Amino acid sequence: MSNIAIIGSGYVGTTLAAILANCGHKVTAIDIDEKKTSIINSGKAPFYERGLDFLLLEAVRNGRLQATSSYEHTSSSDIVFSCVGTPDNPDGSSNLQYVFASAKKAAKLMPRGSIFVQKSTVPVGTGGRVEKEFSKIGKNVSYISSPEFLREGSAIADMLWFDRVVVGGENAIAVRKVVDLYRSIEGCRKHLADIGSIKALEGVQGSYVTTSRNSAELIKVTSNAFLALKISFANSIAKLADQTDADVNEVMDAVGADKRIGRAFLNAGRGYGGGCFPKDVSGLIASATEHSVDMPIMTAATEVNESMPGYIANRVMKHLGALDSKKVAILGLAFKAGTSDSRRSPGVALANIFDHDGAEVRVYDPRAVSEARNDLRKTVFICASLQEAISGVDAILVATEWQEFLDMDFSKLKGIMKGNLFVDCQNIYSIARIESVGLNYLGVGRRGVIKEGINHE
Ligand code: UGA
Repeated sequence: MSNIAIIGSGYVGTTLAAILANCGHKVTAIDIDEKKTSIINSGKAPFYERGLDFLLLEAVRNGRLQATSSYEHTSSSDIVFSCVGTPDNPDGSSNLQYVFASAKKAAKLMPRGSIFVQKSTVPVGTGGRVEKEFSKIGKNVSYISSPEFLREGSAIADMLWFDRVVVGGENAIAVRKVVDLYRSIEGCRKHLADIGSIKALEGVQGSYVTTSRNSAELIKVTSNAFLALKISFANSIAKLADQTDADVNEVMDAVGADKRIGRAFLNAGRGYGGGCFPKDVSGLIASATEHSVDMPIMTAATEVNESMPGYIANRVMKHLGALDSKKVAILGLAFKAGTSDSRRSPGVALANIFDHDGAEVRVYDPRAVSEARNDLRKTVFICASLQEAISGVDAILVATEWQEFLDMDFSKLKGIMKGNLFVDCQNIYSIARIESVGLNYLGVGRRGVIKEGINHE
């Protein structure tokens, strides 16, 4: 059993704390936000993530996890994880103020020979700068870079059944200790899945990859940037499919069947959002620029991504005509299903575009309303139910793949709305199913409204 401190109680820090505590380690979760620490101490997560409340409650009850805003516990910790936020600056570069502030604060207290593990996503070279700060303080603390690859919405399963765990650092003993700590999770997987009430995965054999500190940092941003690139590539092809009567889902199914390419993250739609891809891509561009390296490929990926909500809105407007007397429902404000997170959410962007262009906009999301509220234009009408959102609308746009939206009864829905336009912003519905109830289907790269002669109203 190790004494662990985890600084930062966001998605990564809270999931890691819940998992390590339920594997028998003594964990202190540290966050400057006392609202968050008291929520965690009551056995709940400060955000929605499936299964996490169960794990937190168990860990708090058996005394293995406590949350605090004080750094005091770092003085008795074998390993301190840094999982603080790295938001973007207005110029797109990564804002590292929390990374440095928390590292310095912890290092002052950490015992000799302890290990500081950076899990926050940071530009390559950051670890070297933090290590310099450590030596200025005169502390013999080993620095390890071990980025996290979990996705929101499947955070627990991703951390338990990982593809790879990356541990980078120059001190071989510290690297081994961190790998051993991760290995301790392996034996508890099934038990943790039971507590969290999530499905245990079979046959997933992830690997442990040990690298240099700088490679580990670059692995993380490269992974996210490549996934973002795949999405923007699929969206570019979708725009061409719209002009040529091809179907981007059919195209990507066949393209992705090539093992060298793979099908994952080739789903075209309203583009990527969230707290990671947009800022990690801009952070990579900024970090490359700092080293005099051009990254036009990532600039293009960003431009394509940012164009997608407007692209969808334009196509809807072509169909509906002037928006000032129109009512539209946007279903889905979370940047993806399974989370209450609405940061850089395409659903929010779509709602604001339609509202700005004069439509009456009604929005609904099963989890993300309170997080999205401040980013929505004041005139957007927030609904408490799906039924309320779609009642009397000319068009429905589904922006997030919540199960509730996949399970909708389309013939009932047709009776509740006024118009008949159904916009599948993530290409997740069967066109035949939607059209069988008399709705007009509009996807992204799946149907050309104008070319296919859908009636203009
Ligand atoms: C992403 C990475 O997938 C994780 O590996 C990484 O750990 C995390 O960022 C992070 O850096 O913390 P996340 O942002 O939770 O995870 O969500 P994803 O599932 O990657 O989805 C990101 C966005 O891309 C969502 O808006 C999603 O709807 C969109 N997306 C995804 C597409 O538009 N098309 C796709 O084919 C896949």
